[in-house]
Parts: sequence; structure tokens; C-alpha cells
Amino acid sequence: MIKKIAVIGTGVIGTGWIIRCLAHNFKVIAYDKDPKLKKKIIEEIRRASPFVKKLFNKKKINLKNFQYVTSLEIALKDADFIQENATENYKIKTKLMNLIGKYAKNNAIISSSSSGLLPTKIYLKCRNPARTMIGHPFNPVYLCPGVEVVAGKKTKTKFLNKANKFYKSISMNPIIVKKELPGYLADRLQEALWREGLHIINEGYATTKNLDRAIEDGPGLRWSLMGTFLTFHLAGGKLGMKHMLEQFGPALKLPWTKLKAPKLSKKLSSRVISGTKSQAKGKSVAMISSIRDEYLVNLQKLRKKYEDKLRK
Ligand SMILES: NC(=O)c1ccc[n+]([C@@H]2O[C@H](COP(=O)([O-])OP(=O)(O)OC[C@H]3O[C@@H](n4cnc5c(N)ncnc54)[C@H](O)[C@@H]3O)[C@@H](O)[C@H]2O)c1
Repeated sequence: MIKKIAVIGTGVIGTGWIIRCLAHNFKVIAYDKDPKLKKKIIEEIRRASPFVKKLFNKKKINLKNFQYVTSLEIALKDADFIQENATENYKIKTKLMNLIGKYAKNNAIISSSSSGLLPTKIYLKCRNPARTMIGHPFNPVYLCPGVEVVAGKKTKTKFLNKANKFYKSISMNPIIVKKELPGYLADRLQEALWREGLHIINEGYATTKNLDRAIEDGPGLRWSLMGTFLTFHLAGGKLGMKHMLEQFGPALKLPWTKLKAPKLSKKLSSRVISGTKSQAKGKSVAMISSIRDEYLVNLQKLRKKYEDKLRK
């Protein structure tokens, strides 16, 4: 039975997991190679608490269930489920997974938040690879229910199923991916959009603000209820996807998209950084996060009503 969660690496994503697990009454023990992050985490728990409590109908988040330690070995000693969130880099993760495998209990499940690295590669030197996998979440982890559970070549299905059950117990909607692929599912799609956006900015056709607007007022409004495929089914009129493919299929041959990323030159980086800075209108990341969080809570409550109609 999963009772204690170890969160390893406590930046943006690790902190998100801490909040979600605490909100579901799990005991959480956290470790980061930077021993001074505890204060920041507590501040973030306090900032995010009102939104989490509203979404999950909780009275309070019990900070007594949270422990921050400065030793990886101690963090892993009694953990039943380990969620790793260190910097996205093969070398860092492979080295860390080696240590995690060494200190973890024999029956612990080990999951990585990686955004697209192959599990077989990051767990190459990890003991007990049958119990390892990716559990890729979305930011903010404490409010977004999505998690992609990706198996490596040595992962055993029974442990994927255990992880699936655990993620469900913290109000997530896992998608199981049994055959690993770089970028998994959502980030592969996001990355395509991101690359095209960078090309458009690089070539001077639009600002970051206009590109964001193009998504916010059109595709983005629909996407939280229906993904690309069901949306395009409607775009085909009464005949649905069949007519959609007949009408827009030929456009696949037009040179609309480039997909290969542009060079991240100084000019492009500075356009993207100054563009988003001006979009922020002097608000801090924490201030914008709170606006986003309130929106996400209300949106999910609204979405529930329409999801029930759509998926029944
Ligand atoms: N930021 C996102 O939107 C997002 C979304 C989904 C998944 N992820 C994935 O989550 C992971 C973490 O991303 P993040 O955005 O939180 O990064 P981050 O930079 O905010 O945090 C990374 C943390 O890992 C710590 N760290 C580095 N090496 C370590 C080690 N050996 N042992 C322990 N701690 C170590 C760092 O000190 C830092 O606190 C990455 O794999 C990333 O791809 C990120």
C-alpha cells in the first residue's frame, strides 16, 4: 500500500507534486541537492493552498505531513512511491536514478517527471528497472490532472498499473503509454507548436503577444474540452472527419509548417524574452500564477459539466 511519497528535486514541478500529494493526505518527504529550498516550498504551498482546497473540496493542507531532508538516502528510506523531478538532462537523471535505485526500498515504485527523455535510457543503471517508469505531469501539477505514464523496455505492467492507481488516488487522469517515444504524447504536440511559433517570431511575422492571442481566442478555447482530432471531426460538418480529410487533406502537402526548430540566436531569444516580459505587464510570476490557478479551478469545475455530457 502506498503511504509515503518521496519527491526528489523540488523546483517548479517537485513543489507541485508536494502540494498535490499533501492535498490528498499522503505523507511527503522531499529532497533537493539544494538544501535551502524548504522556505520557498512552504511559501508556494501557502500561495497555492486556496486553489487546491477549492478544486478538491478540502478543508486544509496538513503541513505536519511534510518533511524536507538534506539526505537522499533518508528521503528514500521508507518511501513507497518515488517521484523524481531533477533537471531535464540524461547525465543528471541517469546518475541520480542509479542512486535512487540503490537507496529505495525493494518494493518502491520509481517514477520520473521527465518531459521527454526515454525511460529505458534514464534507468539504464537503476536497480530494479521493472518498477521504473515516467510519470510526466503538467504545470501546475497541483491543478492539472494530466499525467503520462510511460513504460521503459524493462517496466513490468503490474507496476504501471500500480502507478496508474496511485495517480488516480491523487485525482489525476493517467494516460498509459506502453511503448516509449521521445517527447511522449503531449510534449510532442506542444513542441511542434512551440517550434512553429519561434519560426514565426524569428521571421518577424508576429509578436509573442499576437501568437498567444491566436491560440487563446481560437484553438485554446476548445482544446480543454476536445483535443485536435475530435475538434477536426466537427470541422468536417455533417460528414465529420471523412469530409475534413477530403477537404483539408491536400493542405498537408502545402509548406505551412517547418517543424525543425530555428536556431535560438541572441536576436530570437531577446524577442521572446522581451515579448513575454511586456505581456506580463509588470506582474510577477507568482501573481500571474495565482490568476492562472483561479482560472484553472473554475474552468475545471465548468468542464466537468460538459465532459459528462460529451463522454457519456
Ligand atoms: N517546468 C515544467 O513545465 C515541466 C512540466 C512537466 C515536467 N517537467 C519536468 O520536471 C523535471 C523538473 O523540472 P522543473 O521545471 O521543476 O525544473 P527546476 O529547474 O525548477 O527544478 C529542478 C530541481 O532539481 C534539482 N536537482 C538537480 N539535480 C539534482 C540532483 N542530482 N538531486 C536532487 N535534486 C536535483 C535542482 O536543484 C532544482 O531544484 C524535469 O525533468 C522537467 O522536464 C517540467
